[in-house]
Amino acid sequence: MLKALHIALAYLTVAGFILRAFWALSDSPLRQQKWVKIAPHVVDTLLLAMGVALAVQLSISPFAGWLAAKLVGLLAYIGFGVLTMRAPSRALQAVGLLGALASVGYIFAVAFTRQIWPL
Ligand code: HEM
Repeated sequence: MLKALHIALAYLTVAGFILRAFWALSDSPLRQQKWVKIAPHVVDTLLLAMGVALAVQLSISPFAGWLAAKLVGLLAYIGFGVLTMRAPSRALQAVGLLGALASVGYIFAVAFTRQIWPL
């Protein structure tokens, strides 16, 4: 149950990010809506909370192995995400978008394989 919710939120954060990145790159006024600013924080906080709950339930340390790799990937996803939304130029926003998609792709690969280097 917890895991199913965690996975559903994982897909939701990516879908939401792609939509907001599209709006940011096209300077759409849609991104100024109040719910668009709030919803990602709700989704991401729940995703993190479910992840922490899963790690506690399964007694997995967040400071070693694949879970630590996921957290590093998460920091990169957040950093590139901020760049996508706030960078002053299109080029930098595009770098942010590519970086965020690569980071979240890495997180998914690590989650599914439980390998730090999921090849
Ligand atoms: C963008 C962030 C995240 C994404 C996209 C993501 C994605 C996923 C996915 C798809 C799975 C299912 C893997 C499977 O089917 O076996 C999973 C499992 C898991 N995630 Fe995350 N996750 C994220 C963040 C986190 C965080 C922050 C934590 C902990 C602090 C966490 C802890 C876990 C744990 C412990 C499992 C394993 C469950 C098990 O082995 O049964 N995740 N994650």
